[in-house]
Amino acid sequence: MIQFIAILVLAYLLGSIPSGLIVGKVFYKTDIREHGSGNLGGTNTFRTLGVKAGLAVTLADILKGTLATALPALLAVDMHPLLAGVFAVIGHTYPIFAGFRGGKAVATSGGVILCYEPLLFITLVLAFFISLYISKYVSLSSMIAGVVGVLYVLIDGIFHKWDFPLFIVIILMASFVIYRHRTNIKRILNKTEPKIKWL
Ligand code: G3P
Repeated sequence: MIQFIAILVLAYLLGSIPSGLIVGKVFYKTDIREHGSGNLGGTNTFRTLGVKAGLAVTLADILKGTLATALPALLAVDMHPLLAGVFAVIGHTYPIFAGFRGGKAVATSGGVILCYEPLLFITLVLAFFISLYISKYVSLSSMIAGVVGVLYVLIDGIFHKWDFPLFIVIILMASFVIYRHRTNIKRILNKTEPKIKWL
């Protein structure tokens, strides 16, 4: 039981590492929460600090989810890996090290899926970039990737093999990603959401 709780706490703390804040403050003397969308995530880092910083933060955020999901196996604790992954996503979104003001759950959820089912991760990345190419909205593409994830697990369950924990987690993740993007949704409807220019 102690080991079980320790993994959940560790996963939450790992997710809580505010990579956007660290990269911004250490290398650019900038708090990205005071710029752009105010979000502590990869997209706002790209927007505020450029490609190098944006890539570093996105990769670090993905890695947090991947590592947390691998914790039960790494520490030989009998726990479903997705449970640890979910705690990393909670940490990333409500980080104890950054006043509980974190990101929008996209990259860290992706990292969880990368560890648990790499083919689904590749599908999500493809869905994200196809949507981004068409819409030019990062936020909309993140939400569409979430919905594609739910459809993927549903179709895989019907035609191949049910993974009930994954089905529940992907529904929770997609709903949470949409919930965290509610201000973006308002901006998309008002036509004030910024579009990317490089794709
Ligand atoms: O991953 C977050 C992204 O989908 C939206 O970020 O900064 O445009 O609100 P932002």
